Amino acid sequence: MEKYIYKQDINITPELMARINELLSHYPEDKKKSALLPVLHEVQDAHDNWLSYELQDKVAEILEIKPIEVYEVVSFYTMFNQKPIGKYMFEFCRTSCCATRGVEDLMDYTCNKLGIKEGETTVDGMFTVVGVECLGACGYAPMMQIGDFYHENLNQEKVDQLIADCRAGKITLHDK
Ligand code: FES
Repeated sequence: MEKYIYKQDINITPELMARINELLSHYPEDKKKSALLPVLHEVQDAHDNWLSYELQDKVAEILEIKPIEVYEVVSFYTMFNQKPIGKYMFEFCRTSCCATRGVEDLMDYTCNKLGIKEGETTVDGMFTVVGVECLGACGYAPMMQIGDFYHENLNQEKVDQLIADCRAGKITLHDK
């Protein structure tokens, strides 16, 4: 089936299941769907930052809801990825403040430097570049998010340094 084109190893470990159960404990037994967003974040973090349809089906099974109820949420929010992405995803804010402060040129610069187009991933699987809506750090434009962290007041030199730091394994992705 076409939608299953991207294959992914699904591994709901006991530790991940324990985190999911902890999240579910915050909601009534018959309202498991209410935990969908935090559960998707946990599951995505544990699966190389993307959610295949098989994995979304698994989440639906755990929450006892229909797969379409998971698909419609995953496809709506840009923080959920539906195909394999690079280890480091550069999410450039391209809304008003960042736009007026030159983010489009900076994205072009970054894509050219990495040899990819927006939305693509480098062949070594290290980098993906995407544009997203306002990330709420408008006073520090132009900015982007990598993993859980913001990188602000960007320019070409800072992008060069970030790419070098990623390649050197110096960039932290998660705050937990
Ligand atoms: S406009 Fe870029 S963070 Fe708000």
